[in-house]
Amino acid sequence: MPTFKLDGREISFEPGETIMRAAWRDGVEIPHYCWHPGLTVAANCRMCLVEVKTERPILMPILKWDEQQQRHVPATKPKLVPACQVQAVAGQEVFAKSSEALNAQSHVQEFLLLNHPVDCPICDQAGECKLQDYWLTSQGELKRKQTEPVHKPKAVRFGPTIVYDGERCIMCTRCIRFCDEVAQDHVLDMRERGNKNEIVVSPGRELDHRYTFMTEHVCPVGALTTRDFRFKARVWFLRSQKSVCAGCATGCNDFVDYDPRDNKVQRLRPRDNLQVNRFWMCDDGMMSYHRLYDARITSGVLRNGGHKAIAPDAALSAAAQSLKEVPGSRLAVVLSAQHSTEDNYAAVRLATALGTDAVYLAALGGWEGDEILRSEDNNPNRAGALHVAGRTLPPLSALMAKVAAGELDAVLALGGASAESAEALAPLRRLTTVCLASNAGPLTDVASLVVPVAHHIEMDGTFVNRQGLSQRFWPAVPPPEGVRPAWETLAALGELLGKPLGFGQLAELRKGLGAAAPAQNEATA
Ligand code: SF4
Ligand code: SF4
Ligand code: FES
Repeated sequence: MPTFKLDGREISFEPGETIMRAAWRDGVEIPHYCWHPGLTVAANCRMCLVEVKTERPILMPILKWDEQQQRHVPATKPKLVPACQVQAVAGQEVFAKSSEALNAQSHVQEFLLLNHPVDCPICDQAGECKLQDYWLTSQGELKRKQTEPVHKPKAVRFGPTIVYDGERCIMCTRCIRFCDEVAQDHVLDMRERGNKNEIVVSPGRELDHRYTFMTEHVCPVGALTTRDFRFKARVWFLRSQKSVCAGCATGCNDFVDYDPRDNKVQRLRPRDNLQVNRFWMCDDGMMSYHRLYDARITSGVLRNGGHKAIAPDAALSAAAQSLKEVPGSRLAVVLSAQHSTEDNYAAVRLATALGTDAVYLAALGGWEGDEILRSEDNNPNRAGALHVAGRTLPPLSALMAKVAAGELDAVLALGGASAESAEALAPLRRLTTVCLASNAGPLTDVASLVVPVAHHIEMDGTFVNRQGLSQRFWPAVPPPEGVRPAWETLAALGELLGKPLGFGQLAELRKGLGAAAPAQNEATA
């Protein structure tokens, strides 16, 4: 690969690549606002101006103050070029930290802040704002402008999810380009000129496509905010954990941002993975953390003609008690396309240990996909569940046929979610139905016994996405007291039933999964 030098550091580049992109790939940040690795180049903010030394230097005529002559005299200075737009050339020397370049960055920064309200104490972007970062690294001086700043529309409702503050906007056009190029919806544009510029929504429209959170996410300053996160948390109090979105079979890589003081998840953010989601997530995915709290099951539920809450351990003992006498031939096990590969593997192992091959798959019934990210399959791990089962699995409708034929006494189900309604599953009420679930769903509604288990945000595990990539996630927040991941709960159930599964630790389970485990996806950008 050809190389060039950036502030003395050797950077390799693909022919045709810009200086900015090559530096970014190499982990070097050249100050920038309008450039984004996933969008086309606008080169309008001028924050990325760099000095390029070549055999044929590009010089710009200027007037320079001459002390001796006490007047301006003609002179030249290096012409700076935008690193986001200019292609790298082999052997070229680029300076993003020369005095000329630093001077330009400082002036651009001052210009961008001229009319900016600098209301950082009440701005949601504070702590992760490029204006703050570059003020510190590239300017560090107080505002020289003493006059009233230009005022613009504030708290403008762009749509059901996004609010716009014109005074904070630096007109980088990232939001416009994101809507045009990624969401494929030309719903935003710019009006007026100079310091009257503002971003507007197309007449008769709202910013309401399926990627509005991303439109906000690409904004480098606090001009766009989501109604979901606005005024909810200061980002410096939040911690992040690497995870995978459970919204659909695409398996977008994300960060779970949570407050460690109350272990509450506050938002999801995309995690770059060029192979899977590039830089993006859809709105439903970014809102999917709310499901952690929707109808959360934190204790066991015993329905013996009534509804009694019991401790998780007591629920597990009751599960063992009720399944103990059931012959394998009269037992069915339900896997879940919503649960991790590890959870499903433990369920398969327990089914085998209990002598049944009546294994079914519970899954949500699908949603509208698109050509951008969303898979029509709104289950994160159908592929993982099928993989550990080693065969295609019949749906719950087939299970219900078996129930109707009186061939079963008990069902052990993983997860509460299913495409089938509680009404359709009502015949399961006549059986011993044990359901391990983190959140209520049709299966928990009909279960005679519910054992609480961890949600995927609370545990270590993997999902296999629609590309067959096994992607790992890690625990962000702890599960409720006494609640364990389903794989661990199933292993404990096996022990109580006198059928140990041979793993008490995740590492042991993964060893068992071993060669059968699909390839891990390590290819994060
Ligand atoms: S709203 Fe944000 S992303 Fe859009 S132009 Fe303004 S600063 Fe850039
Ligand atoms: S496309 Fe699917 S995996 Fe990606 S963010 Fe949306 S719901 Fe989540
Ligand atoms: S990042 Fe290059 S001009 Fe904006």
